[in-house]
Formats: sequence, structure tokens, C-alpha cells
Amino acid sequence: MRKKISLILAIVTLGLDGCYYDRFNELHPLDGYVNTCDETLPDNYQSVTRNIMLSNCISCHSNSVRQGDVVLETYSQVKQHAATGELMGVVRRQSGYQPMPPETALRGCDIEQLQQWIDNGMPE
Ligand code: HEC
Repeated sequence: MRKKISLILAIVTLGLDGCYYDRFNELHPLDGYVNTCDETLPDNYQSVTRNIMLSNCISCHSNSVRQGDVVLETYSQVKQHAATGELMGVVRRQSGYQPMPPETALRGCDIEQLQQWIDNGMPE
């Protein structure tokens, strides 16, 4: 009986996650963005940084998920974490920071683009 209940709970939880994810993509479409990691793209939040966040971070750091109480949905939220050095610390997996994304590191060119964005003064 116990096992059955946990199984049902697991299925319901997975189901809800699925719905949330579908709805999130509807609410925040990638605007036809294809993550080619093109370093020649104009390097500002709207053209590059936002898409890296949407593709790699937002599943755990949206307004409603908020893992570690970190939200990376808007320009000012991302800028705030970048300005303290935390953003590059986590994506470069430096000691003293939680490595992010937890499982697989960003591609080198994504990391370089984030660094360029910061070096350029984090334009919106
Ligand atoms: C699979 C879920 C998941 C993904 C994807 C993810 N994170 Fe996290 N993140 C977490 C969790 C969980 C924590 C809290 C870790 C802790 O406090 O132990 C966290 C914490 C953080 C923190 C605070 C780190 C610290 O040292 O306190 C930052 C900044 C962060 N994430 C940024 C990012 C960025 C940027 C990305 C995308 C490149 C990302 N995360 C992708 C789950 C995720």
C-alpha cells in the first residue's frame, strides 16, 4: 500500500513538472533562438545572455522554482548576480561556488560570451 502511494505521488509530481515546463516555454519563448554559441552576435543581455540563461539555468532559477533562492529571469536579476562575481564563479566552477549547472558545465563559448558581456559593462 505504501509503495503504491509513493508511486502515485511520483507520477503526479512528474506530471506536474511536465506541465510547468511546457507552460514556461509558452510564456518565455526562445524567440526562434538557436543556441549556436556564435561569438559574433552583438553581445548584450537581450541577444545573448538572456538566451544562455533560458537554455541552461531557468529550469531551476525561475520566479516559481527559485532553487537556492536564486532567480535569473530578468536583466536586473542576472546583472545583480554577475556584478558580485558569483555568476562567473558558478559557471567557471571555481572553488567557493556551487558549480552551475550542477550536472554539466556550460560550453566554453557560452562562458566566454558571458565574460564578454560582463567585461563590456553588462549592456541591456
Ligand atoms: C538542475 C537545477 C539547476 C540548474 C539547471 C542551475 N542551477 Fe543554480 N542552483 C541550483 C541549486 C539547487 C542551488 C542551491 C545550491 C546550494 O545552495 O547548495 C543553486 C544555486 C545557484 C547560485 C548560488 C550559488 C552559491 O554558490 O551560493 C547561483 C549564482 C546559481 N545557482 C546560478 C546558476 C546559473 C547561472 C545556472 C545556469 C548556467 C544555474 N544556476 C543552473 C540548481 C540549479
